Amino acid sequence: MNLLIIPGLLLSLLVAGAVAYLITARRYNSANSVATSYDEWTQDGILEFYWGEHIHLGHYGSPARPKDFRQAKYDFVHEMVRWGGLDRCPPGATLLDVGCGIGGSSRVLAKDYGFEVTAVTISPGQVARASALTPAGMSAKFMVDDAMALSFPDASFDVVWSLEAGPHMPDKAVFARELLRVLKPGGRLVVGDWNQRDDRYQPLNFWEKPVMQQLLDQWSHPKFSSIEGFSELLEATGMTRCRVETADWSQETLPSWLDSIWQGIIRPQGLVKFGFSGFIKSVREVPTLLLMRLAFGSGLCRFGMFKAVRASDAASALGHR
Ligand SMILES: C[S@@+](CC[C@H](N)C(=O)[O-])C[C@H]1O[C@@H](n2cnc3c(N)ncnc32)[C@H](O)[C@@H]1O
Repeated sequence: MNLLIIPGLLLSLLVAGAVAYLITARRYNSANSVATSYDEWTQDGILEFYWGEHIHLGHYGSPARPKDFRQAKYDFVHEMVRWGGLDRCPPGATLLDVGCGIGGSSRVLAKDYGFEVTAVTISPGQVARASALTPAGMSAKFMVDDAMALSFPDASFDVVWSLEAGPHMPDKAVFARELLRVLKPGGRLVVGDWNQRDDRYQPLNFWEKPVMQQLLDQWSHPKFSSIEGFSELLEATGMTRCRVETADWSQETLPSWLDSIWQGIIRPQGLVKFGFSGFIKSVREVPTLLLMRLAFGSGLCRFGMFKAVRASDAASALGHR
């Protein structure tokens, strides 16, 4: 009998989710909708309740092994710091977190690594929530800013960090340029992002096209880059020293998708806390989470890591790398 409860629950969630998903269709329409979506997702508190203060995937090790969902997210930040060589930066180095959510990563970077963090998001609601979650005296400050036209002068930061913000950017070339523009010569850029397989070499097939379209429409994504395409865009700015280094962390992050759905089952208090409308809002994300699992598991999507060092101004002006 007990053996039937969990599959039964999963099936009911999937059916309820599919119905809610179909009757509340979403389409990406503008950068404005990104800000509005994050404001709403922040205001109702549902995303924070299930995902915690880190709105990004977890790192489950290589090879991936079972882990606590929230711990995996903290671990991701530490893995990204190590992979990017940021643990060798001196305390007090300045860091810009582009697309900071409600500041989960920013606080780890300030508290555990001593960075002076400035963190930006397009969502005023996230700035308010991030500021409320940040203890007084912590060196992390939050502001509304658009990654497509950052308000900082050239060469402002020792480090630029961006985690899972890229798919929201309407123009990836502008995003690449802005990330490097505000970095000081010799400064480090580290980016972690959802990407699509490079379709210049293997075009999307009959089932991949509609799946990709759903992944774009559901969570306010104008477009995903490919790992190859975005590293080419970074290099094309002429502002990187040497080649951009990349890695594929799809396998390390893959358990996050099903773990997200599992949170809804093992934390039923959410049902009471957010009521019936909260239940519908949460459950409508189940099909998208499953499509994400399918896409990242099949190679249609890839979790891309990028690191680069900003060239000196003289070299970039000459277009040398
Ligand atoms: C998936 S969340 C990642 C949040 C955060 N990096 C984290 O790891 O918790 C994407 C973030 O990108 C931000 N974002 C999207 N478009 C943006 C833009 N044009 N300028 C600045 N931030 C943007 C969103 O507001 C959100 O904070």
